[in-house]
This record gives sequence, structure tokens and C-alpha cells, in this order.
Amino acid sequence: MKLLTMFMLPLSIFGHSLVESESTDNKFIFDTFQDPKRDTFLWETFPDDFLWGAATASYQIEGAWDADGKGPSIWDTFSHEGGRVYQNQTGDEACSSYNKLKRDIEMLQELGVKSYRFSLSWPRILPDGTAKSFNKAGVNYYKRLLDALVRAGIEPMVTLYHWDLPQDLQDIGGWENEMMVSYFSDYADICFREFGNRVKLWITFNEQIIFTTHGYEIGSHAPGLKHSGYGAYRAGHTTIKAHAQAWHIYDQKYRNKQHGKVSAVFQSSWFEPKTNSLGDKLAAKRAPEVVLGWFAHPILVDGDYPAVMKEYVANASRLQGLTTSRLPEFTESEKKMIAGTYDFLGLNHYTTTYVSHKARAQPRVASFDLDFDMELSQDEAWPKAASSWLKVVPWGLRRLLGWIKENYGDVPIYITENGMSQSGMDTNDELRIKYYQSYINEMLKAHLIDGVNVKGYFAWSLMDNFEWAEGYSEKFGLYEVDFDDPKRPRTPRDSARAYAEIIQNNGFIHPGSKEKTEL
Ligand code: NOJ
Repeated sequence: MKLLTMFMLPLSIFGHSLVESESTDNKFIFDTFQDPKRDTFLWETFPDDFLWGAATASYQIEGAWDADGKGPSIWDTFSHEGGRVYQNQTGDEACSSYNKLKRDIEMLQELGVKSYRFSLSWPRILPDGTAKSFNKAGVNYYKRLLDALVRAGIEPMVTLYHWDLPQDLQDIGGWENEMMVSYFSDYADICFREFGNRVKLWITFNEQIIFTTHGYEIGSHAPGLKHSGYGAYRAGHTTIKAHAQAWHIYDQKYRNKQHGKVSAVFQSSWFEPKTNSLGDKLAAKRAPEVVLGWFAHPILVDGDYPAVMKEYVANASRLQGLTTSRLPEFTESEKKMIAGTYDFLGLNHYTTTYVSHKARAQPRVASFDLDFDMELSQDEAWPKAASSWLKVVPWGLRRLLGWIKENYGDVPIYITENGMSQSGMDTNDELRIKYYQSYINEMLKAHLIDGVNVKGYFAWSLMDNFEWAEGYSEKFGLYEVDFDDPKRPRTPRDSARAYAEIIQNNGFIHPGSKEKTEL
């Protein structure tokens, strides 16, 4: 099966023309997915103000882990410990982006993106995590980056917390300690003050569900704690309050002057019932309510956890012999403080899973994983990326966006991450091209056909980088980075050209004719 061909315009910025167009007869991108109602390709474009972008995060790209007064983060500690990350790799140097600002911006320009999503390293700005340790050199690095972006006409989307907590704050309990609410608020306040004149789109937290479960429950991410059944709920609870406080600080002190928007980024797959059984259907209905709703429901709906989440954790806690639920409760005034603290919804989406009903076999074990009586799996027939959890299932994105609209209304949505991994060095990445084409096409259908209010899209990632516990073994980059070369050269992959072309066309223009797919 041929790739859908959309390589008509030569993009000379990359030094050579793209593949010539062949046939455009194929309506489907993947052999695996050929349901005409679901998978037919849509030749259409996005609204003119659609925000195309690429994304990265501080610890994953910056390197310079102890340069210019930066304090250690929990990821410095965790990766230096040994035995935690693939081949004991670290982010000490990563992509050296701290020293390669010019090249990174050049890459964004080559892609033609309108926006760059990156994160601030908290311990670079406040080495011990608190306001008293303000580090001017760290602040200046981000000012230089922001100035360069402004000069290049690229709008920043800035994440305050993408998992690199200052180690000193972990030493007093990290996100399991309520005090983090005020430390995070101070940090957010300083960032709004220092950078807010150049930033219109702010993200408080990236994927609370991942760093709380992996960091405080399973222990596979920093800080490596295994507080099974408690850690993630406790840490998550703090982050929801911290998010809300930061949003209020912006709203009260900065919004009038800076006119920006603040929100969180949630992670969610799409969930399909594994079989037609009622149990599996109910489990699949529960899944997004718990996974996305755990953090999105309090913030977008009523300041509290989804009812189904409270019910299941309380029940599991009771089975364990506990008298109170392991899921903490918000007070009434906290609920008021939390509800409505968003200006848009940020969504990181990569894949789809099946869900089946599975009652817990060991009622007395406390574990987030067992609390909801469900089991997740994937289909062997789905195309595979290098990450074990990442199968390529484009139609899941449209279903998830529909679910969001149905449950949270007409909220403006930015897809803040989407992309796929490969394992080896190879700039010829045909599967990634198909991934981007098909997922972006499903987002287009969600927007044009289902009326979902999607405002922008950020590819993950601008370049190969430190993929957390997997080190440099899983490569998500539009640009390949050679980590064996101290200069960390970046080379565009074929997918960079394909993505640039989608951006240039603002969607998908039928190469053969003006013909468009019927809506
Ligand atoms: C989500 C995280 O935000 C990002 O840091 C990570 O690299 C990608 N997913 C890929 O796993």
C-alpha cells in the first residue's frame, strides 16, 4: 500500500525537494485500518489561526545540569543513582539545548511552526526550590530563549512543571507534602513576573497522572517512591491545589496586564471495550473518567474528583479494612478554589488501549492499578512504535476528542503532545510520517465534522531526547540527534519534511485536483 501522497510542494529550506507525488487513489493510510466510515482520509484544511507547534521539556533536552548556579532536580538525583535508567544514562548533557539555542530556533523555523512548547527548569530558576534562592543566570537563559523566539515570530507555550522538581523540595516530601502548594505558587508567580510579558500560553503541570503514578506509586520515575495505593493520590491532590493557586495568582495579578491564558496538560489514551460484554463496556466507560477525569474533572467541572473515582477508591479501601478512603478529600472551600481554573484544555495523546472488566483478585492490596476493576491491553494487529505502550491507532484521537466535547463542553483544546518513537538511528521514518498524517487527519475530522474546538497541535518532539527511564533508547524526534557526538548535531528526518508540508498547507490539500472529500 502506498503512502497517501502529499509531497507536492518542494520545501527547499531543507536543502532538497520532497518525494514526487505518485498516485492519490488510496483513501486509507494504514492496511490495518480500512473501515470506510472511520478511516477514509479527509482532504481539508484547518482554520487560518490554527496553532502549529513542536514540543520539548527542560530535563529532556537542556543538559547543563549544574551550570550557572542550577540546583539539582529529582531527575538529576534519580539518574545519577544508577540502576534507574536504561544503561544508566542521564540528562547531564542531553541535547545540549542550553548551549544550542540558535540551532533549536532554526529548526523551528525550518518546520514553519508558529509555536514552541518548552518547559522551565524550576531548579535552574530557584536552585533550592524557594524564592530566596532566585538565580539570575538561570532566568536570563530563558529570557534569551524567549527573546529569540519573539524575534523569529514564534509564539512560546511555556510549561512550568515538566517533572524536574528541585531536589531540596523532594527532601521534605515532594508532592506528597502539602507545603508544595505554596512553593509552587511562589515559583509560578516569579515566572509570570519575569517572563509573562512574552508568554501568552502557560501550562502549570504536564501530565499529573504520569509523574504521580510513576514517581510516587510505582517508582519507575523520579523520585522513585513505591507508596502503592497512596502515593499517587496524595501527590496528585497537592498538584491539583497547586495548579488552582497558580491559576488564581495569574488571574488576579497578571491577566489584566499580560492577557495570557493558563491551564494544565492532561494525558489520556483512548479506551475501547475489549469485547461487547456489559462488564467491558462499563469498564471502558470508567477508564477516561478516571484517567482523564482524575485531574480534568476537578479543574473543569466542579472542584472535585469524578463520582466514579471516589466510589471505586472508597470501595477498594473498605475491602482492605480501612475506614477512610485512600483518595483524599477536598474541603468545600478548596472545591470552590479549584473549579473553573482553566482557560483551555491541554491534551497529550499517543495511543489507544482495550479495557476489560477485571475484579480484583487480592482485595487487601492497596494499589492504584487495582482500584478500578479494569485491565488494559492492546491489539497485536495495531502498528507498533518503539515504546512498548505505544501502538499506532489514529481513530482513537477523534473518539477521545469527541468524549471531551461530550463531557466538558466546548472548551478550546490544544493537543500539546502527539508523536511516536523509533529505536535506532534512521532519518527515513515512514511510519512516523503516517503517524502524523493520520493522527492530524483524525483531529481535522474531529474539528470539521464533529465540531470539536481544537485550536492547535504540538508534535512530540522537536528532536530526539532523554525519554525518562528509557534514556536515549526511544527516539521521538522530528530531528535526529547524534548523542555520540559531543556537538549533538541535529538532522531532519523525513517526518520533519512531511510535518512542514502539513503546516505549509494548513492541513491536507488534494494534490491531484481541487476535489475534496464529502463531509
Ligand atoms: C509525555 C511526556 O510529557 C514527555 O515528557 C514524554 O517524552 C512523552 N510523553 C513520550 O513518552
